[in-house]
Amino acid sequence: MSTRNLIRNLPGLPTSDGAGVKLTRLIGQPMLDMLDPFLLLDAFGSERGTDYIAGFPEHPHRGFETVTYMLAGRMRHRDNQGNSGLLVAGGAQWMTAGAGLIHSEMPEQSDGEMRGFQLWVNLPATHKMIAPRYQDIAPEQIPVLTPAAGASVRLIAGEVFGARGPVQGILTQPLFVDIALAASATLTLTLPAAHTAFVHAFEGAGVQVGDTWLAAQELGVLGAGEQIELRAADAPTRLILVAAAPLREPVARYGPFVMNTPQQIQQALADYRAGRI
Ligand code: CO
Repeated sequence: MSTRNLIRNLPGLPTSDGAGVKLTRLIGQPMLDMLDPFLLLDAFGSERGTDYIAGFPEHPHRGFETVTYMLAGRMRHRDNQGNSGLLVAGGAQWMTAGAGLIHSEMPEQSDGEMRGFQLWVNLPATHKMIAPRYQDIAPEQIPVLTPAAGASVRLIAGEVFGARGPVQGILTQPLFVDIALAASATLTLTLPAAHTAFVHAFEGAGVQVGDTWLAAQELGVLGAGEQIELRAADAPTRLILVAAAPLREPVARYGPFVMNTPQQIQQALADYRAGRI
């Protein structure tokens, strides 16, 4: 079986979004505008309320999916269709925006640690205008696998090691795992050879990926292959590994709208202004 190596390593770009939430943008930045089907990856994390308290007030989305994975803190989600939910540490929300919605994501705390990720996953042209759908995943719904000595895997979406994650029915067949490795521990995963995949080590000193090295806090883009071999540095390491089938379709994006053509972006803006989202 062929082993995947990193074909790109890049640091995140410190920025802010929403009403001034400090975050690090790993995908959707000048060095990597997208990684088909992934449109954006933000890492947020602070123990200072002033870095996140303004939150993400009302904003629209159309044409893709937003995935929020919380590591620490509490965030309240509300939309213009009457849906509301609380995102808590260790939980996830897979929101299929489809034809569109307007929502807010606001911290439910004024101080203390707030930490997590938001990932945007594109929808195929045939499904950009489907009805919105939520999968709110509580921490206890996420299986914790121990497939090797010193390795613990939280399986949010996809199938690996004979288990299946709670997020279901996503067209790009994603795998989303949060992996904790003890110092020098190794783990080998198998996934579809042609799926786009990336790794981000957010705790520890970095991780060996096949024959290549990924420093902590960087994003590592994987080349094609069936197997991924991970080896932690000489310190406990925690990382996310995410993979999905690329769409290979034209992308037209403008802020929170991601469609296939500029005309569809104009339509999204017109619909938003007319109150049709
Ligand atoms: Co949003």
